[in-house]
Amino acid sequence: MKKILITGGAGYIGSHTAVELWNAGLEPIILDDLSNSHAQVLERLKDITGKSFSFYMGDCNNRVVLDQISREHEIAGVIHFAAFKAVGESTIKPLDYYKNNLGSLLVLLEYMREKGIRDLVFSSSCTVYGQPDVLPVTEVTPRKDAESPYGNTKKIGEDILVDYVKSKPGIRVVALRYFNPVGAHPSAKIGELPMGTPQNLVPFITQTAAGIRQKLTVFGNDYDTPDGSCIRDYIHVVDLADAHVKALGFLFQKPLDFYEVFNVGTGRGNTVLEVIHAFEKVNGLKLAYQIGPRRAGDVVKTWADTRKINQELGWHAKYTLDDCMRDSWRWQLSLGERKGIFE
Ligand code: NAD
Ligand code: WQD
Repeated sequence: MKKILITGGAGYIGSHTAVELWNAGLEPIILDDLSNSHAQVLERLKDITGKSFSFYMGDCNNRVVLDQISREHEIAGVIHFAAFKAVGESTIKPLDYYKNNLGSLLVLLEYMREKGIRDLVFSSSCTVYGQPDVLPVTEVTPRKDAESPYGNTKKIGEDILVDYVKSKPGIRVVALRYFNPVGAHPSAKIGELPMGTPQNLVPFITQTAAGIRQKLTVFGNDYDTPDGSCIRDYIHVVDLADAHVKALGFLFQKPLDFYEVFNVGTGRGNTVLEVIHAFEKVNGLKLAYQIGPRRAGDVVKTWADTRKINQELGWHAKYTLDDCMRDSWRWQLSLGERKGIFE
């Protein structure tokens, strides 16, 4: 069984990817410093798969722990999730973001070169497109100047990979540009664990429905969209996890010194109000919400053209928006009164 190192593998997308790798016959080896996740995720992964995964508590910027992993396992490929991801925080602590998100990528690439590890899947983001001029967004849609240090780390991360592959180091790379990951594992054993007040829509919805937050504010209803609220492409996290498995399988077949980028979305855009109404309908609940002012810097509308990933990776989103809302709510219920942490 091929072993795949997942940096940030205890996090939201990484933990779901660990399950899908295992289901596909690949063994995840998890490295995480638990800066934005919890060790109990490992037990939850065992509940779901019946398997205890190798876990290394450590910083991806630290070669010592990477070298230890390679002494103990033959790593066939890497999925690099480890990063800080809070857009607002990145404007307050830009150096932390550049250091962690780009430093970890550089350390990882050097490590891969020295150990002869060839395949890498990199977590990028639709944030690199900003507000696209043409919709849906294809992979050749020009990237825009980043709106935040966080967004810039994704853009620069992609650039580093492009330049590195051009130097013919003998590696193969796929960068996946995720649209808006939502939902949770249908078992409700793993999901997103937002720290503090959620900045993202869906955790705010579920925490409001759970009574943790009083009311959701819809950030603007006077945009040029069918109901005036912003449009995003919400992708179920299990579908997203599966895209990583498909990306690895694709890379294993490719010649060396290869770089490719794929959008990962459903190909559909939904407004904020549509998301709220889907949540209410599928869960039989009424959500306390109000219309508020626009949020500074918000992209008005974006959704993915998914033809490239559909055709080249044979990947299609299977889960609907209703599935996303059902699974997000089931996950919130499983947390009970807790605001997103296990204790
Ligand atoms: P997450 O915070 O849940 O997971 C990231 C994990 O990485 C956490 O468990 C954290 O503890 C760990 N980590 C951070 N820095 C580390 C380091 N230096 N060494 C080891 N572990 C470290 O976030 P997520 O939503 O699962 O995101 C995963 C990746 O996907 C990130 O790179 C993120 O930027 C990217 N992404 C996320 C979204 C989203 O909306 N969730 C969208 C696009 C891209
Ligand atoms: C979605 C929609 C809000 C909260 C962020 C990051 C981006 C990328 C994806 C990582 C918007 C509206 C939200 C609320 C609301 N992440 N909203 N009330 O803006 O697409 O982007 O996640 O790479 O970098 O910036 O996601 O979940 O914050 O917002 O009305 O309380 O929900 O205005 O239209 P976004 P989001």
